[in-house]
Amino acid sequence: PFKAVVFDLDGVITDTARFHHLAWKRLADTLGIGFDDELAESLKGIDRRMSLQMILDKGGVTLEPAEFDRLADMKNVWYKELIGTMTRDDLLPGALDTLKAVRAAGLKIGLASVSQNAPAILERLGIADLFDTVVDARLLKRGKPDPEIFLKAAAQLGADPADCLGVEDAVAGVASIKGAGMAALGIGKPSVLTEADAVIAGLDDFVLDDYLA
Ligand code: G6P
Ligand code: MG
Repeated sequence: PFKAVVFDLDGVITDTARFHHLAWKRLADTLGIGFDDELAESLKGIDRRMSLQMILDKGGVTLEPAEFDRLADMKNVWYKELIGTMTRDDLLPGALDTLKAVRAAGLKIGLASVSQNAPAILERLGIADLFDTVVDARLLKRGKPDPEIFLKAAAQLGADPADCLGVEDAVAGVASIKGAGMAALGIGKPSVLTEADAVIAGLDDFVLDDYLA
């Protein structure tokens, strides 16, 4: 049986992907780079600077480091404007019940998001106090798919990764979980999250008993 569950945030607990999409598209537009759904999908779970690099690569654009930093900051200003409108109503279906059920069963809960905005989003959603630990994205050396973030979450919880269940909606995130030696529950489509041990469509399909046996 698992002793802890480590959740990703974007796309699992709340749908910030649409805000990232809007902010990146706005930035790509200013650069004259086309931004489509496929590019948006490939950026899920990828940290801010790597995401910008992938957009620039798509457009064949090279920037001076100072300009790169300025654009990454600008995207984040636009993104923060968008998430400033979030409330408890922006929790995805089943998210709150899942967190409460996991806690009630005596399991620890961690957050493994590479978003530097994650703590502010947890506050806006009113769920910050349901987490035993949150990995500080600013201190990561490598983003997903590297296992660092899930390994850190387990260490901060004092749990062996083998006793943890990781929950992720992104291909890069599932790879990070598996690399850390955890079991992976995918949120989305089995045809996309092929490395996951199990896949459900959303947390409203989460049945804790399935993972306690
Ligand atoms: C999550 C999202 C990514 C985003 C990343 C960094 O992983 O899925 O789309 O790029 O967080 O977020 P940040 O808020 O630090 O720019
Ligand atoms: Mg995600």
